[in-house]
Amino acid sequence: MRVAVVVASDRAARGEREDRSGPMVRKMLEDAGAEVVCCEVLPDDLESIAERLVELADELRVDMVVTTGGTGLGPRDVTPEATLRVAHRQVPGIAEHMRMMGLRRTPHAMLSRGTAGVRGRTLIVNLPGSPAAAAECLEAVLPALPHAVQVLRGEAADCGRTGP
Ligand code: MTE
Repeated sequence: MRVAVVVASDRAARGEREDRSGPMVRKMLEDAGAEVVCCEVLPDDLESIAERLVELADELRVDMVVTTGGTGLGPRDVTPEATLRVAHRQVPGIAEHMRMMGLRRTPHAMLSRGTAGVRGRTLIVNLPGSPAAAAECLEAVLPALPHAVQVLRGEAADCGRTGP
């Protein structure tokens, strides 16, 4: 599974803060067997994020884009809007599960507006920006992601469950 990591952060893009969520997400994905083809930082700008998501899906044809940051209520938080602008279909269960699991740890989990969607054969998943939050959310959904990618590629023979 080829994955791109996109960090949305004005401060990290300006070099005012070291980004820690991108490398952490990268490591978790690699530990799970994914090939991370790029890990890049963008400002919290809807047009820039949407444009890059389109390139990653349509030109690089990655299996998945994982974003971190820009999912909250801040005036510059636009990652979900960029994702929804370019997605052809939404996958609500991914973000629902992240919030459900996050709420076991902190009520602040409800403040992430992160979403997930599909563009062509690329799955786009938004994580919140703090390294701890991103790790918690990715850990929650990671078990389902390889199968999601297989289905998108048309490679899943079945869903691997038998019996009741
Ligand atoms: N989800 C989990 N699992 N754990 C967390 O600590 N933090 C929340 C939320 N989601 C959190 C979480 C907080 S404090 C915010 S403000 C939102 O994610 C949005 O974060 P973002 O704007 O950095 O994307």
